[in-house]
Amino acid sequence: MFRMEHINSIVNPIGKGRILFYPYINYLHNTITTTISKRSSSTISIKQSCSKESVQDLRSTDLVALEYANLNLKQHSIQEMGVGHVRIRQHVNPLSSAFQVPAQVPDWGETFCDSSLPLVVDIGSGSGRFLIWHAKGSPETKNYMGLEIRQKLVNRAQLWVKELDLNNICFLFANATVSFEQLVSSYPGPLVFVSILCPDPHFKKKHHKRRVVQTSLVNSILKNLSPGGQIYLHSDVLEVALDMRSQFDAHLDILQHIDNVDPSVRCDERGWLLKNPMGIRTEREIHAEFEGATMYRRMYHKRDT
Ligand SMILES: C[S@@+](CC[C@H](N)C(=O)[O-])C[C@H]1O[C@@H](n2cnc3c(N)ncnc32)[C@H](O)[C@@H]1O
Repeated sequence: MFRMEHINSIVNPIGKGRILFYPYINYLHNTITTTISKRSSSTISIKQSCSKESVQDLRSTDLVALEYANLNLKQHSIQEMGVGHVRIRQHVNPLSSAFQVPAQVPDWGETFCDSSLPLVVDIGSGSGRFLIWHAKGSPETKNYMGLEIRQKLVNRAQLWVKELDLNNICFLFANATVSFEQLVSSYPGPLVFVSILCPDPHFKKKHHKRRVVQTSLVNSILKNLSPGGQIYLHSDVLEVALDMRSQFDAHLDILQHIDNVDPSVRCDERGWLLKNPMGIRTEREIHAEFEGATMYRRMYHKRDT
């Protein structure tokens, strides 16, 4: 199995001798990205590029560790984060009565160092690494809030926030379809960005009502988002991406797709963004691309009127 300590002992494939830790991470990351974008068998190509010495069995979890290596997050298993059952369910049913209780609105002044800053919300924030990476990069300009329905993921993310001593990010245990409106409308500053990234697909038709993107959530995002604010959606499941897209495309009187605002942003002929515009991939995105999946992406801009 590939481990982080192997990186130090890998021969530099672009020069002689051994190389330092971080340059190698960048090299490996670039290699992997290139490999995936060529849609070849990523495992085989990575093995070829990274020498036969160490990287025998690179897995997508290793790629997640590499993508987020410079956060230096401690290893906390999800299991140690909560009481009760150890098993983490793949999907929860957000319609069950346990998830209908609205999240308590935090004291914003205590939650953030400056609660007047523009707010970024990630709905279904999963492990939280994606949002933590952004929060660490913008410490004095924005606040970040992750909404996540799995308590143990929230506990672990909050522990990372504490360990990194960040005061511009929080994770809340919340069913976004129940709590988004109350949370966001009570926030003192402007809402400038909302992301919904790889939401749980709930494939069966009778379970579509469990999906997080429901009419009430879309309406609440549109109502609370500031003019000029943005919404970013992506999924590796075409059916889910189309479902989200149709719900936001229904409001093109209020929203514009980003390529109409910024012509440098390119879409394919079906209107999906060609590239991830976020500067980093989410965990689910890394796993999906490792398996060769296509990501379907849309980004909207709220009109000024
Ligand atoms: C497939 S994961 C994607 C996580 C992350 N966005 C990523 O791309 O790696 C979807 C996440 O959404 C969470 N989730 C599902 N329904 C939710 C809801 N109604 N409110 C908040 N979070 C929800 C799940 O618990 C899970 O962590």
